[in-house]
Amino acid sequence: MTKKYARHLVTAALPYANGPVHIGHLAGVYVPADIYVRYLKLKGEDVLFVCGSDEHGVPITIKAKNENCTPQDIVDRYHTIIKQSFQDFGIEFSNYSRTSGALHHKVSSDFFKTLYDKKEFVELESEQYYDAKAHQFLADRYITGTCPKCSHDGAYGDQCEKCGSSLSPLELINPISTITHEKPVLKSTKHWYLPLDTHENFLRSWILEGHKEWRPNVYGQCKSWIDGGLHPRAVSRDLDWGVPVPLENAEGKVLYVWFDAPIGYITSTQECTKDWELYWKSDDCKLVHFIGKDNIVFHCIVFPVMLKAHGDYILPENVPANEFLNLEGNKISTSRNWAVWLHEYLEDFKNQQDTLRYVLTANAPETKDNDFTWKDFQARNNNELVAILGNFINRVIVLTHKYFDGKVPQKSNVQEIDNKALAAIPHAKEHISALLDQFKFRDALKEVMQLARVGNKYLTETEPWKLIKTDASRVETILHVCLQITANLSILCEPFIPFAAKKIQDCVGVSAAQWAAAGNDAILTAGNSILAIDLLFRKIEDEEIQKQMQKLQATKINSEKTESPLVAPQKQTITFDDFQNMDIRVGTILEAESVPKTDKLLKLTIDTGIDIRTVVSGIAEYHKPETIIGKQVSILVNLAPRTLRGIESQGMILMAQDTDGTLQFVAPDIKVNNGGAIC
Ligand code: MF3
Ligand code: ZN
Repeated sequence: MTKKYARHLVTAALPYANGPVHIGHLAGVYVPADIYVRYLKLKGEDVLFVCGSDEHGVPITIKAKNENCTPQDIVDRYHTIIKQSFQDFGIEFSNYSRTSGALHHKVSSDFFKTLYDKKEFVELESEQYYDAKAHQFLADRYITGTCPKCSHDGAYGDQCEKCGSSLSPLELINPISTITHEKPVLKSTKHWYLPLDTHENFLRSWILEGHKEWRPNVYGQCKSWIDGGLHPRAVSRDLDWGVPVPLENAEGKVLYVWFDAPIGYITSTQECTKDWELYWKSDDCKLVHFIGKDNIVFHCIVFPVMLKAHGDYILPENVPANEFLNLEGNKISTSRNWAVWLHEYLEDFKNQQDTLRYVLTANAPETKDNDFTWKDFQARNNNELVAILGNFINRVIVLTHKYFDGKVPQKSNVQEIDNKALAAIPHAKEHISALLDQFKFRDALKEVMQLARVGNKYLTETEPWKLIKTDASRVETILHVCLQITANLSILCEPFIPFAAKKIQDCVGVSAAQWAAAGNDAILTAGNSILAIDLLFRKIEDEEIQKQMQKLQATKINSEKTESPLVAPQKQTITFDDFQNMDIRVGTILEAESVPKTDKLLKLTIDTGIDIRTVVSGIAEYHKPETIIGKQVSILVNLAPRTLRGIESQGMILMAQDTDGTLQFVAPDIKVNNGGAIC
């Protein structure tokens, strides 16, 4: 017997406010969460749906540094964009909060304090890298060095992006601070740790015994974490962006972002209602977390331990985490811009939110990673939404207007074929409900489409347009049946494609739709008015898909370009005379020496064939003085002299800059007399 709950609290992972949201976010978390919440609301349940922006953490501080602005500027920008995208796609949160807000700082800091006072933390000293020049401890991402596994030079303190290994900063060879480019030193620092190991028995019985019904991917990850041995986890960091640790002598320390972020669910609920405790601290509320698979450990292990240690809070009943959605065969990547951004989608596919919601659900990565392709998007829109659902409803409405003046006709002399079609209605409702209760959104959507298919087939088999002249009462019954199916579809599809659902409901006059009303063949009464309806879904043409494919291809090319930024764009066109004005000669380096107190400049003495002159050249990083004496070079001789470090430079040596930044001489490949012109 499943328990009946008085209330529901549904959370969706707080997205990091360091970029806009893309289809992977929608497919993984927000669409399924919204489907579930809409379903609960249609059933008349008391439900709160909370989310917000996750605005702390190191990546945000790095982005701010790169853009020369404050972390607050960054999160303000993306909070607004993200919030708008959710609204545009019909993701209807009860509240969308943010973790940089004052209330959240208080809620999370009080939460920490409670655990601290209850002695739920252990304090540990450890050695961590410190940048003595910048006077700060370095987060893992602020340290680069050589990967101990693959010798890649730009590995980060937490991960090598070349070979994918997880690292600790202490493993890096030749660590360098990305802030000052100095070598960091080890310094002792104190942090508070949540001793997960002491909660092992609780986790074993609560998850491994008590929640065998969780999705296999979720259950499996939990089991391997628990079996692999749990360790204390630091809940604070040495950083100046975040919620300050609310203790004496904790200057410069903030709560770790993964400690404060899930508490954001609590903050967001508090912003909805003063009765928030009825949702968080009462056993008759069902808590469900929607997340992506990379968040499983935090939502199934760390956060529950925090809630349990606090003492007053309920634990999640389920954590239906999705796997990842790939895009055209590649992992979605924000940094490489390999993504379909929600705000850009809507520019190209205006008012077609439902199409994307539909495709992402039909192809949801519920049990394994899945691939989004534009071809599949087009096919599902054209062959399913347009050809099945849209076509059925459109035909029914048009025929009702054509034959019955837009009124629901009577049903009489019901035949076997009518009963068969009608029987699909309760069947659909029952299956859809059961599947939604189990978080099987893809399968539930299939059942919705199955009902539309039944309707289509029924219409095609009964051919009312052929009977209208000879047997009008038969046609009345047929359209009556079709309209009941339509009315049911208008309710049953609402969780998935709410925009279309609303249009169909308005058309058939089902206002304030209730799940309870669906599942029977008497939603509509004979004589009811049916309004006209616009096309629900429009066909997507090949050209539109090509355009999207090209757009993606272009990001690939662009990102390759930005990975080697030294391939500079072409300069503006010059005339032949401009070129002729440059006097470039072949010369020979007679002497070379470093310029004192610089590490870039060499002072060169050059025989230009015209004269012997001095040139100061910025090549010292790449060439040692003693190795270049006697070399032939190309020199621009009629450049106005400039004084560098007190030395007058009379001309310029031409160098070829490789894409890695190194400089090589541009010189004739066999010896040429000094003074020979380059033309
Ligand atoms: N910002 C995290 C992510 O995008 C998710 C945070 S979920 C919360 O992976 F529980 F911490 F809020
Ligand atoms: Zn590596």
